[in-house]
Amino acid sequence: MSLSNKNILLGVTGGIAAYKSAEIVRGLVKKGAGVRVVMTESAMRFITPLTLAVLSKNQVNTGLWEGDQERIDHVSISSGSDLFLIAPATANTLGKIAHGLADNLLTNLFLTFKGPVVVCPSMNSNMYLHPAVQANLEILRQRGVHIIAPAVGELACGVEGVGRMPAPEAIVMEVETLLMKRAKLSGKKILITAGPTREFFDAVRFISNPSSGKMGYAIAEAAARRGADVVLVSGPSLLPKPAGVRLVNVVTAEEMNEAVMSNLKDVDAAIMAAAVSDYRPVGRYPEKLKKGEEKISNDLERTPDILENAGKRKNGFLLVGFAAETEGLLENAREKMLRKNCDMMVGNLVNSSRSGFESDENEVMVISKKKDTVDKLPLMSKRQAAERIMDKIIEEMGLD
Ligand code: CTP
Repeated sequence: MSLSNKNILLGVTGGIAAYKSAEIVRGLVKKGAGVRVVMTESAMRFITPLTLAVLSKNQVNTGLWEGDQERIDHVSISSGSDLFLIAPATANTLGKIAHGLADNLLTNLFLTFKGPVVVCPSMNSNMYLHPAVQANLEILRQRGVHIIAPAVGELACGVEGVGRMPAPEAIVMEVETLLMKRAKLSGKKILITAGPTREFFDAVRFISNPSSGKMGYAIAEAAARRGADVVLVSGPSLLPKPAGVRLVNVVTAEEMNEAVMSNLKDVDAAIMAAAVSDYRPVGRYPEKLKKGEEKISNDLERTPDILENAGKRKNGFLLVGFAAETEGLLENAREKMLRKNCDMMVGNLVNSSRSGFESDENEVMVISKKKDTVDKLPLMSKRQAAERIMDKIIEEMGLD
């Protein structure tokens, strides 16, 4: 059974979908998981603890102040759990866990639990779409909480809209996939570069490009979710640090090169998604340059090619490059893959308005040298693309 040896902590909160939690428990138990349920006060208005205790064959906990006095339940209940699933998750509980409030057993457990957390928001569509709820979900997502988006359909309040908790089987399947994926990269070290670099020609001005870092950060997140030890070397980016990764901030190509070279030891894969400036000004004035002559000039010199340097030091790790092109994508990406001694190349066109530098979406192709294949992925969010790219990398590493 796919979930044998896995223990799931299921948190049930007070939404109408709470009745479906019985089916979630059944589904998890059927796949061999040990299930421990905690419920909030309001969840008990929708389904009884007895039902969930019978189905999980385990005691159900509902309050902070129950249980024996020697053990502190809000710590001991979750120890040994491989995953904390909160389904359904009400707007109220999402708000509390996003902001660290701990006024019941479930929210206390959220703060003490160190493993992966999955939440299934379920509520009226106006509530779900409210900026406050969306902001709370964004906070949770950025902290590494996995969110199973609600479905569109008829809601208990009679209206059509988004907010329905997905079918219990779909939730069980997602939990299963997540636990399986997590195991794939555990014990593996992955180095990722992201963002632009800045090459200064005076104290405050520089050459750069519009890279936001979104693709590299999404790949770092996807690798961390699969259990990898991730080092993310990033040029200047406004994005928050992805959950569970070690972030090394750099500014110039030279600094990025140094950070990459000193972290290459022991890596299992290096993925270079940064948009590195190829040239830097030779003249670098220590102060802010004053306006004067009508015309001035400054020579440019090459920066280190970080990917090429990594390719020269390849000692068994998988090397993945990115090729952002405005034309001849496949030929250019292939040529770069060979020239820089890469095993794989992710290519994308940067002249389309919907995909590329600052966009949230990307349309990429993944080229494998060993397999001699080109996989063209459709236009999708950078986050989804990152998941697909990581799947291909895992396949290439022989870990699938
Ligand atoms: N790259 C790098 N260091 C550089 C330039 C590029 O590590 N100084 C990496 C990028 O992170 C990317 C790959 O090389 O993974 C391809 O980058 P790209 O700018 O498309 O290639 P270039 O080698 O700069 O080729 P060109 O500008 O001629 O297209």
